[in-house]
Amino acid sequence: YKRITTKTLVDMKRKGEKISMLTAYDFTMAKIVDSAGIDVILVGDSASNVMAGHETTLPITLDQMIYHAASVVRAIERSLVVVDLPFGSYQSDPKEALRSAIRIMKESGGHAVKLEGGKEIKESIKRILNAGIPVMGHLGLTPQSIYKFGTYTVRAKEEEEAEKLISDALLLEKAGCFAVVLEKVPAKLAQEVAEKISIPVIGIGAGNGVDGQVLVTHDMLGMTHEFNPRFLRRYLDLYTEMKSAFSKYSEDVKSGDFPNDSEQY
Ligand code: KIV
Ligand code: NA
Repeated sequence: YKRITTKTLVDMKRKGEKISMLTAYDFTMAKIVDSAGIDVILVGDSASNVMAGHETTLPITLDQMIYHAASVVRAIERSLVVVDLPFGSYQSDPKEALRSAIRIMKESGGHAVKLEGGKEIKESIKRILNAGIPVMGHLGLTPQSIYKFGTYTVRAKEEEEAEKLISDALLLEKAGCFAVVLEKVPAKLAQEVAEKISIPVIGIGAGNGVDGQVLVTHDMLGMTHEFNPRFLRRYLDLYTEMKSAFSKYSEDVKSGDFPNDSEQY
């Protein structure tokens, strides 16, 4: 695929091709992720944690999301760029939701937006879709509602919550979303959802029975150390690698080894 579109992703599901998705919040990282052939780049509100050091995703603002998204968009040649609508930018009413989505599209050049929730935000999703803006859903563990849940543990283990999740997924499909993220739910339930709906289900901590996977790039690179959920596969230990590079540089500066004769004018 030359350029990934929302339609490409739906076609991929139909053909049984898995979808790869990673986060990026800046130009340099996005350029590497895009050139590696990752299908979807998510400008996640996890930037609130990863970039800004907040404990939750709640504090990040729409202006800050637009800054991150615009930086990512400038880097990409192939990937589809999906941008999270941050907490507080869409929950009050559908008009506000549409205004926020329009700002993201106009000011960042992103290709789609992602919103957390199902039935509760149905009207907002419809309004955004009616404006021609593609919407990705997000169900299961929805970090913007962390103070309602109380914990970041697995969601929908109980029958009642599982049923709501299935009906929300069906609702998102019917409303016209092009894909849904399912975060931290039992693998069996996630597979059932993926089988029930025709749009791609992208999992994080949702097992292997779904249509694609997403991870936070800084986590899979091992740049973050404290976050150790079972679903996280680390492909590098960049924390250790980077730390030793920084120490070496400091040593070289302090010993007078850097710069040497060929590293100056
Ligand atoms: O903000 C984010 O990084 C996300 C993914 C974890 C799905 O929403
Ligand atoms: Na998010």
